[in-house]
Amino acid sequence: MLEALGLRKSFGALEVTRDVSLALPAGGRHAVVGPNGSGKTTLFNLLTGEIGADAGVIRLAGRDLTGLPPDARARAGLTRSFQRNNLFPDLTVRENLGLAVAIGKRWGGVFWRPFNGMPGLGDRIEELAQNIHVADSLDRTVRTLPYGTQRQLEIGLALAVAPKVLLLDEPTAGMSAEETRAMTALISLLPREISLLIIEHDMGVVFEIAERITVLDYGSILIEGTPAEVRSSELVRRRYLGESVP
Ligand SMILES: Nc1ncnc2c1ncn2[C@@H]1O[C@H](COP(=O)(O)OP(=O)(O)OP(=O)(O)O)[C@@H](O)[C@H]1O
Ligand SMILES: [Mg+2]
Repeated sequence: MLEALGLRKSFGALEVTRDVSLALPAGGRHAVVGPNGSGKTTLFNLLTGEIGADAGVIRLAGRDLTGLPPDARARAGLTRSFQRNNLFPDLTVRENLGLAVAIGKRWGGVFWRPFNGMPGLGDRIEELAQNIHVADSLDRTVRTLPYGTQRQLEIGLALAVAPKVLLLDEPTAGMSAEETRAMTALISLLPREISLLIIEHDMGVVFEIAERITVLDYGSILIEGTPAEVRSSELVRRRYLGESVP
């Protein structure tokens, strides 16, 4: 579904992405891990087109996206999770999801039209709310929601455009243990029509979600394999996981 071949990126003399390739099958769950500064977020920026690659090819469902701007890649089905500051804090959860669906469908003049004039919108909002486990908070104003629930809503906004591939950059960052459990459960239960690429520092979360793991180190792939292969790799143990392997 998503294929990256030989991606390279330097910032000045600093090589941040060195010949990185990965292949995410349809419905796959693939994690990218590595120490701070190893180039994980840069890899996402290269995939979404926010940063142009110096070399390499990116394909989505067989279509060459290399060189396309971010909005064209998003329309092709490659979406990253919104950040919390993309939410409308004074609108309700329902209104935030509704706007995201409407924008995804490019319904013109959405800001000036009542939601009930848009066919199927109510059902779609309910479905999204179920997916992100906020069905009981639909009419709450976003700013009154706990941090963890706001982060769940970010994922809902990304899902609203029905992506083929969803990129999540540290979805549990800053969360309590309880919020992390809720987020992990939510991600585990996302529909398999969506292929997932996830950057995550919490290895407990990674081992629960991922079917394959790419370990980055100074911009290069240290190892790519199944969770069992990564867990048992002496190299990874020494370079990254240390004693924290669950
Ligand atoms: N736009 C940029 N200009 C210059 N250097 C950059 C730029 N973006 C990232 N870098 C550098 O590239 C390296 C990789 O950064 P990146 O954000 O991709 O790492 P990361 O693996 O996501 O780290 P973290 O775990 O802290 O989020 C870092 O040394 C960073 O300072
Ligand atoms: Mg990062």
